[in-house]
Amino acid sequence: MSLHLGSIAPDFEQDSSHGRIRFHTWLGTSWGVLFSHPKDFTPVCTTELGRAANLAQEFAARGVKMLAVSVDDVPTHGRWIADIEETQRCTLEYPILGDADRKVATLYDMIHPEASDTMTVRSAFFIDPNKRIRAVITYPASTGRSFAEILRVIDSLQLTDNHKVATPADWKDGDDVVIVPALQDAKEIAERFPKGYKALRPYLRMTPQPNR
Ligand code: BEZ
Repeated sequence: MSLHLGSIAPDFEQDSSHGRIRFHTWLGTSWGVLFSHPKDFTPVCTTELGRAANLAQEFAARGVKMLAVSVDDVPTHGRWIADIEETQRCTLEYPILGDADRKVATLYDMIHPEASDTMTVRSAFFIDPNKRIRAVITYPASTGRSFAEILRVIDSLQLTDNHKVATPADWKDGDDVVIVPALQDAKEIAERFPKGYKALRPYLRMTPQPNR
């Protein structure tokens, strides 16, 4: 099954460092980020999990639950978590799924055989409160992800869900945004964007971020 943007994130039940998790129930009404790691006790993954742990308050502030997955078992994760906490100076409070049977890795197409038959790529699935996949990033094992970028994507998704705007290149929270081209009604534009807008072209209208 192909997973597309807008698809319902497949549900599953799997063991984790926090006990058994039924994914949809665990998500509840939160946003979620499900992110895969090629293998336990690998250097880049260790830094990624530490970075995510140190940003936990930022994710919580956005109403986002983090869930990691690595294709080793839960006892192995337990030993690795001790290393992560010591080397990355963090407390890892989110769960890591034990996925030795690759149930989740397979369900989410995280193993790309041309890259590796055994290890997952570095995927991150952004899931909204309706359990829909809203964004996906996929990196090779050799490239650690930017968790600042993951937060930036969440900020964009949450902003653009609530306002008729889109976020331009390199946008970050607080920067100007673009008014979606479909919005043409002058009265609605004036109501939604009381600070006004600048039309660089008829299709390129910049406005201050409306929720600021
Ligand atoms: C790492 O996490 O460091 C890693 C994992 C697999 C291949 C290369 C690097």
